[in-house]
Amino acid sequence: MTTLFRSGRDLIAPLVTLVAVVLTATVASAQNLDAGKSPANLFADGCATCHRSPRGLAKGRFSLTLAWFLKDHYATSSDSAKALASYLESVDGAPRAAAKPAARPTRPPRPPRPVQDH
Ligand code: HEC
Repeated sequence: MTTLFRSGRDLIAPLVTLVAVVLTATVASAQNLDAGKSPANLFADGCATCHRSPRGLAKGRFSLTLAWFLKDHYATSSDSAKALASYLESVDGAPRAAAKPAARPTRPPRPPRPVQDH
């Protein structure tokens, strides 16, 4: 009985060490996964469930306030928040500049419809 009790006790220290090592490894790999991702991948993984497209999210904000918003609401590290902010801006800015002439067709304004009296 004594030998069994002692061997059980001897097991605890290695077990605690093992759990600690596994936890550390999990946290470390999670950080590495996030750090290795491109902003586009970050968006696809973490944001696309709710925001179908990255377009229109930057809305001409300053990148600093946008990064602050992202860090505050979603992203865990300020690095990925900054990366996401500039990604949203790049996605938003490029098409807007290119599409501006086509977006407004030169059509004369329509006169208002006459109101019909009963
Ligand atoms: C669980 C759903 C959800 C996820 C996931 C999510 N968002 Fe959002 N997001 C929202 C909602 C709802 C709003 C609007 C409410 C608000 O402004 O707080 C919003 C607002 C925003 C805005 C502000 C847009 C505006 O109109 O002012 C930005 C920018 C944004 N999200 C970016 C992101 C990014 C980048 C990610 C990924 C890291 C992300 N969101 C993930 C739901 C989500």
